[in-house]
Parts: sequence; structure tokens; C-alpha cells
Amino acid sequence: MTEKRIGILGSGDVGKALARGFARHGWDVQVGTRSPEKLDAWLDETDESVSVGSFGDAATRGELVVLAVRGGAVDDVLDLVDDDAFRGKLLLDATNPLEFSDGEPQLLFGGTESLGERVQTRLPDTHVVKCFNTVSNAQMVDPTFEAETPPMFVCGNDAAAKKETDALLVELGWPGTTDAGDITSARYLEALVPLWVRVGQQLGTYDHAFTVVR
Ligand SMILES: NC(=O)c1ccc[n+]([C@@H]2O[C@H](COP(=O)([O-])OP(=O)(O)OC[C@H]3O[C@@H](n4cnc5c(N)ncnc54)[C@H](OP(=O)(O)O)[C@@H]3O)[C@@H](O)[C@H]2O)c1
Repeated sequence: MTEKRIGILGSGDVGKALARGFARHGWDVQVGTRSPEKLDAWLDETDESVSVGSFGDAATRGELVVLAVRGGAVDDVLDLVDDDAFRGKLLLDATNPLEFSDGEPQLLFGGTESLGERVQTRLPDTHVVKCFNTVSNAQMVDPTFEAETPPMFVCGNDAAAKKETDALLVELGWPGTTDAGDITSARYLEALVPLWVRVGQQLGTYDHAFTVVR
């Protein structure tokens, strides 16, 4: 099998869930963090195809990169990585500009801007596709919904990158993608997430996802 290398920038629930999931599907995974040593115990009980490095190491190593850091820290993380590490690559942006300071999900900004657009503007030679941000980390790879698994909402400027993302998601157990348009649609995919949390609060679980029916 051709080695497929992914760099996952982020060591929270999303980074760890994606690392385990991609490893299950035969990928060589490197998780990026400011503090590799804090993942020693986790790494010991994780698939041996997963390694840990700096944000820069993971971005450089990955042929494909996922951005999965706290929304308010995206600029700081990109500051830590040379733009060349991303150049020409597909970058899946899972981030949301959320804070929970009063216990409720609040968008840090939105309406006329988004993290997806900020990342694409900072990295013009990188193919940014908003992906994974509207589902729980527990459902990101090999999802198990009670109902039929819906396609993943994505958006981005590059048609080939979205096609590649669609094929990747099929590999990861999704039926494919719902294309919401260019990267400006990240405004609305990110704005869906406070609603997703509020619905989860009512359901008492967070295993749900939104879909389009016609
Ligand atoms: N949790 C979910 O189910 C879910 C679902 C969809 C989308 N998302 C989105 O995915 C992203 C990751 O979420 P998460 O729940 O895994 O964890 P998180 O706590 O939002 O993010 C953890 C990551 O952010 C980095 N980080 C935090 N503050 C930083 C700073 N000041 N400078 C540099 N890096 C910083 C951490 O770096 P270190 O590794 O160095 O500590 C860590 O890698 C978020 O944007 C979230 O909105 C989450």
C-alpha cells in the first residue's frame, strides 16, 4: 500500500480522534502540538503509526494537513509554522471560532468573516477545505448514526481539492460530501455549530448531524 501521510495540527479531542481514525485506515499520522511530551501516555496506548511533533513538524510531514486547534488560537498556530509546509497541499480546516466563557457557545466573530477564509487568505497557495467542523469528534471517522449517515458539509475554493476531500471521506466511512460552495460559506458552516451545541443540549447527546433533504 502506498504510504499516506497526514499531519494533524491539534492535540485536543479532535486531533486525537482523527489521529486514531486515520491510523485505523492505514495512514501514517503525526499530531502537532506545542508540548509533545504531554502526549507520551496517550501515544503509548495508540496505534504505532501515530507519532507526535511540533506543529511545524506535523505540517511538513503530512501530504495532507488537518487544522484542529482552538478557534481563537488559529493565527498563533499558523505563526508557528512556515507557510512552505502547507504550500500546494490540501488543508482540511476543522476549526470553529467558538468560546464557552459563560457556559454557552458563542461565536467569536461571524457573518462577514470566518476562520476558513482567514486560513485561506493567509495561505493562498494551499487548498483549504472546511471539513469536520459540523460534527462531533466521535463521529469524524467511521461515523455511527442511528439514521443513515449524512454527507459531510464542506466548502472551499478549489474543485479538485473538494473532490479529493469527498473521496477521502468515503474512505473514512462517510457517504461523501455536501458542497456548500466557496470558502466564504465557512461563515455559515461555522455559524451552524452554536445551533448544533444547543440542539445537543436539548437531546442530551452530541451524536447528531445536520443534513439537507429535498
Ligand atoms: N470537540 C469537538 O467535537 C469538535 C467538533 C468539531 C469541530 N471542533 C473544533 O476543532 C478544534 C479543536 O477542538 P478540540 O475540542 O480538539 O480542542 P481545543 O481545546 O479547541 O483545541 C486544542 C488545540 O488547540 C491548541 N491551542 C490552544 N490554545 C493555543 C494557543 N494559545 N496557541 C497555540 N495552540 C493553542 C492546543 O495546542 P497544544 O497541543 O499545544 O496544547 C491544542 O492542540 C476547535 O476549533 C473546535 O471548535 C471541535
